[in-house]
Amino acid sequence: MKKIWIDCDPGIDDAMMLAMVKASEDKLKVIGISSVAGNQYSDIVTNNALKLASLLNIEAPVVRGAREPLIQPMKPCPEVHGPTGLGYTILPETEKEVASEHGISFMYQTIMEQEERVTIVPTGPLTNIALLLKLYPEVKDHIEELVIMGGASVIGNASATAEFNIYTDPEAAKIVFSSNLNITVCSLDITNYCGIDGENIEKLKNSSNRTQHLCGEIMEFAYNQNEARINGLLSLHDVCTIIYLTNPEVYKGIRIIVDVDCNEGINRGATICDKREYRNLQQCNVNWLTDVNQEAWLNVVLRNFWTI
Ligand code: BDR
Ligand code: CA
Repeated sequence: MKKIWIDCDPGIDDAMMLAMVKASEDKLKVIGISSVAGNQYSDIVTNNALKLASLLNIEAPVVRGAREPLIQPMKPCPEVHGPTGLGYTILPETEKEVASEHGISFMYQTIMEQEERVTIVPTGPLTNIALLLKLYPEVKDHIEELVIMGGASVIGNASATAEFNIYTDPEAAKIVFSSNLNITVCSLDITNYCGIDGENIEKLKNSSNRTQHLCGEIMEFAYNQNEARINGLLSLHDVCTIIYLTNPEVYKGIRIIVDVDCNEGINRGATICDKREYRNLQQCNVNWLTDVNQEAWLNVVLRNFWTI
């Protein structure tokens, strides 16, 4: 059983990623969830993480992480994720409370207590992970892998070249990509094509199971925004991380060299990817996913939704 720590900013697709975590309980054991300011302000995403953990019966502790990126000011994304961070959906209240307001120390301690190395799954800006690595460099020996949603080498979404999570905190991303850790990246190159259709969203929304219904309702908000759809599908970017851990066979990847543009200017936050045939393989710091079997991917995702 793989032990994972989730670092997220729920967030519509973050919420669906947590649903996948629940559906993968036989393969993945989640030991903690940290919030990071990104799609919405810290209070909103932390509250969403607590409510989602309750709704999905995920017992792991939820902790509050960074309230702002390392250097630049916080700029949320209500136009994509709605006023509650989950469209207009207000999830049922929960009595679950944050296990710590100092989530990075809590994450460090929890990881160090485990017998096995832990896989960290960041699906928001990389602020918390950069802080973890800078505050507690010894934690690196206890990390199996980072499976990150972020970056783009073909086309961006926050800007022409930059993807939202990296764009929100480029300095943090630079720290993480230069950490020498074992890193797999689910970038927009593939996540744009990992989507769900309107018919299946509707079926979930009509389910009598409350959790499935809420997943359908939340996704419907995003699906109804035209720019969110690619070839008629709603991309579920963050979901790709969990599917990588449970069903890596649906993807292909290559080892490349990735750096982050932290300069002011039109490429700020872009991931610079060296994929040249003659790149120095010794210097490759990332397993960059390049291809996905869309049909197989959606089959796994739908099977998961119908088990929660
Ligand atoms: C990423 O940005 C966020 O808006 C999503 O939750 C996802 O993590 C996609 O670029
Ligand atoms: Ca996210």
